[in-house]
Amino acid sequence: MIKEFHIYDSDAMKTFGKIIGEMAIAGQIFAMDGELGAGKTTLTQGIARGLGIKERLNSPTFTFIQDYKSGKLPLMHMDAYRIETPELLDDIGYDDYLFTEYIIVIEWAKQIEKRIPGEAFKVNINYLEEGRKISIEYDQNQKLWMMAFIKKVEEVKNICIL
Ligand SMILES: Nc1ncnc2c1ncn2[C@@H]1O[C@H](COP(=O)(O)OP(=O)(O)O)[C@@H](O)[C@H]1O
Ligand SMILES: [Mg+2]
Repeated sequence: MIKEFHIYDSDAMKTFGKIIGEMAIAGQIFAMDGELGAGKTTLTQGIARGLGIKERLNSPTFTFIQDYKSGKLPLMHMDAYRIETPELLDDIGYDDYLFTEYIIVIEWAKQIEKRIPGEAFKVNINYLEEGRKISIEYDQNQKLWMMAFIKKVEEVKNICIL
């Protein structure tokens, strides 16, 4: 199943992420894709805020993984753009985060497609003339969560559910 949202500006993007963070359930994985500047990091900043994380979040381009523990659930934020080999993924300890309570957010997830668990949300961000389109692909097990999420999002200004 896929649900699409039109997010008109950067603030709405953060609010959209914040709702994800507020509602997040331990172990959820958000596998994000979208061109440079699409808004993957902006969305992740919103998620971090929703989790109650205090630190500022930046793209971990050179460290690959950044770990945040000050929120109600721990967040693992990963930038897979430069991950070219499975060995590197092993070196940075990627698997240690799977099947834990960590909320996992991966930018450039296609880069490590084979190593993303099937139950992950696949989040695609595309440019629109005004704002962005976010497509969230989810499986049957996440349906109830998604319905509750959509309900919250319906109340937000500058977001249109497509
Ligand atoms: N829904 C949106 N509409 C318009 N601009 C947005 C939206 N979401 C994010 N932006 C802006 O686009 C840029 C996205 O940057 P960033 O989040 O770093 O993208 P990425 O991590 O995908 O490369 C930022 O300048 C941000 O303010
Ligand atoms: Mg980024």
